[in-house]
Amino acid sequence: MRITAWQGDITTLAVDAIVNAANESLLGGRGVDGAIHHEAGPGLLEECRGLGGCATGEAKPTGGHNLPSRWVVHTVGPDVRRGVGDGDADLLASCYRRSLEVAVGLGARSVAFPAISTGVYGYPKEAAARIAVDTVRAFGHDHPASIDEVVLVAFADDDLDRYQALLARD
Ligand code: APR
Repeated sequence: MRITAWQGDITTLAVDAIVNAANESLLGGRGVDGAIHHEAGPGLLEECRGLGGCATGEAKPTGGHNLPSRWVVHTVGPDVRRGVGDGDADLLASCYRRSLEVAVGLGARSVAFPAISTGVYGYPKEAAARIAVDTVRAFGHDHPASIDEVVLVAFADDDLDRYQALLARD
């Protein structure tokens, strides 16, 4: 499994599945959630209404609708605006792990992640990037033939540098 870092708008990526950093209602929001719903069109929200929400650390799939990606895997990262508490790191890791498990279940061979929880939810970017890289690497080690490529999408310049530095280390 190849893991690459790429900077840009995740809604433009023609990968099999893009991951959405949603909230527990799954009814849209700002940030990447807002961008994905905007590009996917109203059909995505309609489909999400039928999902009954999503617990933090969990992941649920929908179609990609008007997006170039075939599927969207919605996950909910920990909201750490009041500080990172016990269990938040594990919940963030669970977002990456469960999203990959759901993507494999769909038959997706390429998956792109935003930097979950590092925007509105306030997760420290360095710690979140390490969790992302470590969790995706561990998944690839445990399921070597399941997915061909995972793209870690950076939105800001510093996000790209951070991912590239972590990926350059063994
Ligand atoms: N493409 C890729 N990455 C993006 C995009 C985009 N179009 N837009 C924002 N990002 C990046 C942000 O820069 C940040 O690094 O996604 C990361 C996650 O930030 P948020 O979207 O704010 O998500 P999160 O921190 O997980 O907060 C989730 O925000 O939008 C609401 O409904 C959402 O309540 C939920 C909360």
